[in-house]
Amino acid sequence: MKAAWITNPRSGDLSVSVGDTDAPVPQDDRIVVDVEAVGLTFAEPTWATNGTLPLPDGSQRASPVIIGHEFAGRVAVTGSATSGFSTGDRVVGLIDFWRNGAAAEQASVLPGEMTHLPDNVSAVDACTLPIGALTAWQALFDFARLKKGETVLIHGGAGAVGTFAIQIAKDAGARVVATARGHDAVALCRKLGADHAIDTASERFEDVAGPVDVVFDTVGHDLLERSWSFLGRGGRLVTISGEAEDAPSPERAAALGIEAHWFIVKPDPAQLAEIVARVADGRIAVQIDRTYPLSDARKAFEEAESRARRGKTVLLVREAAGS
Ligand SMILES: NC(=O)c1ccc[n+]([C@@H]2O[C@H](COP(=O)([O-])OP(=O)(O)OC[C@H]3O[C@@H](n4cnc5c(N)ncnc54)[C@H](OP(=O)(O)O)[C@@H]3O)[C@@H](O)[C@H]2O)c1
Repeated sequence: MKAAWITNPRSGDLSVSVGDTDAPVPQDDRIVVDVEAVGLTFAEPTWATNGTLPLPDGSQRASPVIIGHEFAGRVAVTGSATSGFSTGDRVVGLIDFWRNGAAAEQASVLPGEMTHLPDNVSAVDACTLPIGALTAWQALFDFARLKKGETVLIHGGAGAVGTFAIQIAKDAGARVVATARGHDAVALCRKLGADHAIDTASERFEDVAGPVDVVFDTVGHDLLERSWSFLGRGGRLVTISGEAEDAPSPERAAALGIEAHWFIVKPDPAQLAEIVARVADGRIAVQIDRTYPLSDARKAFEEAESRARRGKTVLLVREAAGS
C-alpha cells in the first residue's frame, strides 16, 4: 500500500517520505480501516515515540514509522475479538502514538481508539477532530476543569488546536480571550466566537486581557512564560507546547497558588463522539487550512515551515474524503 513515513528517525533524518510498504496484517483485537483522510501535526517528526526511545515493552520500534495519527475512513476488516464495528462503517479515531499512524491506504486500529462517524460529517472535517479538537477538550475540561461563566485565555487561537479550543470553550459558556498573530488570524478568532482577540504582534496580553481563570497555551516560549504570573491564585495553566521535559514545574505552580499541567492527548471514544456530535449539529465548525494528496505529504511538511497556519492541514488518502 502507499504510505507516508518519517525517513529515518533514529539516524536523525526527520524528512517525510512517501512510498510502498506492507498493508497491516489483520489481528484478532484490531480493526483494519480503509483510510480516507488524515490530519497533520507538523511537530510529529520530532516526537520521541517515533523510535528514539524504546517502546514501552523495551523493544525497538519497527520501520517504517508511518505518520498521521488522527484519521477518518471506513472499516475494512474486523478482528474476531472486536465488537461494535462492522465492515463498511464510517469511523474517526486517534491511533496511539507508539504505533504506526494512518497516513496510508490502510491502518490498524484498536476499537477503543475510534468512534462512528455520521453521514453529514465529511472525512476531511472528521480527521481533524481526534487531535485538534480532542486535545482542546481534554485541556479545557479534564485538566483546567473550565466552568460556565469563567474566563479562559487561549494562546494560538488561530491554530489547529486553538480554533477548536475557542469554540469548545464558548459552547461550554465560558468567556474567551484569544491571542493570535496578525490581522487575519485575529479576525478568525473573533469569527469563531472569541469575545476578545489580541494580536501579539502589536499588543501585550497582560495589558488588555483582564483577569482570567484559565490559560490554555498552544504556543509556548515567551507567551507561556508570561502566563504564569498573569494567573491569580486558584488559576489553572494548561500547556501542550514542547515535550515532557518542558512540563511546568509543580513547585513553581504551588509557590504561586496555581495549578499547571502539560499533557499528551489520549484516545477517548466517548469524548470524541461528543465532539463529532457538535460538528454534526453545527455547534463546532472545522477550519481547514490546506489539503494535500497523500503523495504530497513531504511537500505538506516542507511548506508548513514557512507559512502562517490557520486551522488544520489534511492529507487526502482516498477520493471519497471530501464527501
Ligand atoms: N501535547 C499534545 O497532546 C498536543 C496535541 C496537539 C498539538 N500539540 C502541540 O501544540 C502546538 C500547537 O499545535 P497546533 O497543531 O495547533 O499548531 P498550529 O496549527 O501551528 O498552531 C499554532 C498557532 O499558534 C500561532 N502562534 C505562534 N506564535 C504565536 C504568537 N507569538 N502569538 C500568537 N499566536 C502565535 C501560530 O500562528 P502562525 O502560524 O502565524 O505562526 C498558529 O496559528 C504544537 O507545538 C503541537 O506540536 C500538542
